[in-house]
Amino acid sequence: MSPNSTQPSSPRRKKSSIQAASNKSRKQTKSSAQSVKRATPTHHALRTKKSSSRITGYGEGSVSTVLSVDKVTAEVGKIATQGPTIKKLQSLTTQLLPKRSKSSATTKAQKNRSTYQAEQKPPTSTKSSAAHYLTFTGVTAGYGNMTILTDFNLYLEKGQSLCLIGPNGAGKSTVLHTLYGLTRITAGKMTLDGKDITALPPNEKLRQVKIAYLLQENSVFPDMTIEENLLMGGFLKPNQDEARTAMEQVLSKYDRLKARRNQKASVLSGGERRLLEISRALIMSPEVLLIDEPSIGLEPRFIDMVFDILKDLRDNEKKTILMVEQNAKKGLEFADLAYVLASGKTVLAGTGAELIKNPRVGQLFLGG
Ligand SMILES: Nc1ncnc2c1ncn2[C@@H]1O[C@H](COP(=O)(O)OP(=O)(O)OP(=O)(O)O)[C@@H](O)[C@H]1O
Ligand SMILES: [Mg+2]
Repeated sequence: MSPNSTQPSSPRRKKSSIQAASNKSRKQTKSSAQSVKRATPTHHALRTKKSSSRITGYGEGSVSTVLSVDKVTAEVGKIATQGPTIKKLQSLTTQLLPKRSKSSATTKAQKNRSTYQAEQKPPTSTKSSAAHYLTFTGVTAGYGNMTILTDFNLYLEKGQSLCLIGPNGAGKSTVLHTLYGLTRITAGKMTLDGKDITALPPNEKLRQVKIAYLLQENSVFPDMTIEENLLMGGFLKPNQDEARTAMEQVLSKYDRLKARRNQKASVLSGGERRLLEISRALIMSPEVLLIDEPSIGLEPRFIDMVFDILKDLRDNEKKTILMVEQNAKKGLEFADLAYVLASGKTVLAGTGAELIKNPRVGQLFLGG
């Protein structure tokens, strides 16, 4: 199976992630959505104390609120009886343009001044969909006969990041699957840089329009060396030499992997595996990274490392990042924009900074 294909979900990895997390991690990640995951029957380590409203989670961690999946979904649905309008979603992404452009102008002195000034103009929320870098317009999609996303809209500019949060089963991964070409799309349209990509199959997404997809599940090949794993990321390159050149470029960026290039991937820590997965995706020089739960399975220092790497890719290399993250605090702190999904629809959207301060989001996803 190629590293870019889907695999059955791996409860083992989810469970081990929770078990491996330390107290600090839990403070950062004690979203109710995670609590719901822990509360499933398979997560038998959960113990409720009837004498107290506080419910102890795995190991030393604890959460003060545990809601069922249905309850979280219902509560999220109540946040907005009607989701944000297309105009609102479009103006959200354009309002951030000056900020991002300004920071890149100061770090890249050679940036063309007239382009910069043009980007300082107030946002025009009446832009046509195709004028945005990445768009979903009225997309309805699902698996087989099952519809998961209904009339889904999303707008993002180049070099921005958007985080999807929401309860389990809300359809967050399905948004990434749909963009990558892994679902059945029955209505709507997706564009990247003005090009209609709705019907492009996954290999063409990677080859033609430079979208790379990092799975929610562990996709490292443990019995292959780090080099071999990286070369798998270059399977669409015309020849092995080009793949090797790209591999050397990526390795020169990440010493942590370079030092262990001939060792089997099985010896890597969880954080290093995530780094390997990101590095493998970079072999094809993607412009857009789709990342499903980058923090899953990682202890806090590796979560920080992964987010630092993503921040570098976004801010210094202008990669556009569409991410799903259960660790809502980390995701919202990182992302320029965030959408809250419930039952395949966006019920709330804002900048990451706005949503992290939203009391309803806090109650449902940030553990307080
Ligand atoms: N490959 C698939 N085939 C069929 N149904 C699927 C597939 N992947 C997901 N689904 C279904 O689509 C719905 C949305 O799932 P999705 O994985 O997008 O949710 P999610 O928000 O990412 O949840 P989680 O937080 O648990 O990862 C669920 O009902 C799920 O069972
Ligand atoms: Mg998912």
